[in-house]
Amino acid sequence: MSVQAILPRIMEIGAGASRKLPEVLAVLGCRRPLLVTDRMMVELGYAERLQAPLNERGIACETFADTVPEPTAASIQAGVAKVREGDYDAIVALGGGSPIDSAKAIAILGRHGGQIRDYRFPRQVNEPGLPVVAIPTTAGTGSEVTRFTIITDESSDEKMLCAGIGFMPQAALIDYELTLSLPARTTADTGIDALTHAIEAYVSRKANPYSDSQAIAAMRLLGPNLRRVYRDGGDRAAREAMMLGATLAGIAFSNASVALVHGMSRPIGAFFHVPHGLSNAMLLPSVTAFSIPAAERRYAKCAHAIGIAAESDDGAQANAKLLAFLHELNSELKVPTLEQFGAERARFEQLLPTMAEQALASGSPGNNPRVPDQAQIVELYQGLWR
Ligand SMILES: [Fe+2]
Repeated sequence: MSVQAILPRIMEIGAGASRKLPEVLAVLGCRRPLLVTDRMMVELGYAERLQAPLNERGIACETFADTVPEPTAASIQAGVAKVREGDYDAIVALGGGSPIDSAKAIAILGRHGGQIRDYRFPRQVNEPGLPVVAIPTTAGTGSEVTRFTIITDESSDEKMLCAGIGFMPQAALIDYELTLSLPARTTADTGIDALTHAIEAYVSRKANPYSDSQAIAAMRLLGPNLRRVYRDGGDRAAREAMMLGATLAGIAFSNASVALVHGMSRPIGAFFHVPHGLSNAMLLPSVTAFSIPAAERRYAKCAHAIGIAAESDDGAQANAKLLAFLHELNSELKVPTLEQFGAERARFEQLLPTMAEQALASGSPGNNPRVPDQAQIVELYQGLWR
């Protein structure tokens, strides 16, 4: 059986890649780009650094800087209105996963109208929106190379997964220099997200030889470098490895899928406003322990690719080392428990059935090597308080 791999048409990778924006827009035949980003990118001067060379070439590039973390349906409507007022022929998405996810949704709604919930999974959004050039400033979500966007429906506090070729950026400028000044907390959260993408893509029921090769390459880059960039954000070699690793992990899960960690993580993010990478990190050790019995060899290969198992280790030894590593990683990267994060336990208990339902409805748990029922998901959620 064949698999269909989807990628951006252009990927510019390495130091200074973001400075190639004018040439990339020219190749795509675009002359009226709208920059979609957030206030922080404007304040830090990142937006200006992209716009100045465009202006020098006579290309006006207006800015929409009102994207928000964990974007909501309402938050993207202002961007959609902006697109509809102007005659833009491209969107340049600059920032972490939230601005890029927002830009992808704006690019589709700006051209085709409607509400984002009309486009949610299981619909496949294959119609093209405005072309998107994605420029990530974190090494994490992989949104620059995925056919997905996640937007929260604020009326139900549900994180909606939207999927299809229409959400794939036309170009991705993957410039690790943009990550050199990221704070340690963001570095850790986004890095664990990337590692989770690679592991979940590799153990997924939708894994295939193409996604496997990307996932293994990603784990080899992310495993040895995640703690290095957390300790020393200026370590250029480690930043470069993390950026490429995050992109490869994005390619892996976009062409396989994520699984139970992501399925359970989204409701925690939506109801308790835990950043995406952090809620993944909270879940990763216990969900891995739950899943290993159904995919011992695959998880053992993860341990080898991450660089924590020896050649001589058998599957059980490698898996024990993987679990120990994930626990140590959380403590070294100071991942808080839900309690330390400030989530209210009574509310969590009350929301358990809803969160488990939403997790299942997202489809991601169905890709897990061990597919849980609702009661098992509830049990895994409760385990976060032990
Ligand atoms: Fe993720």
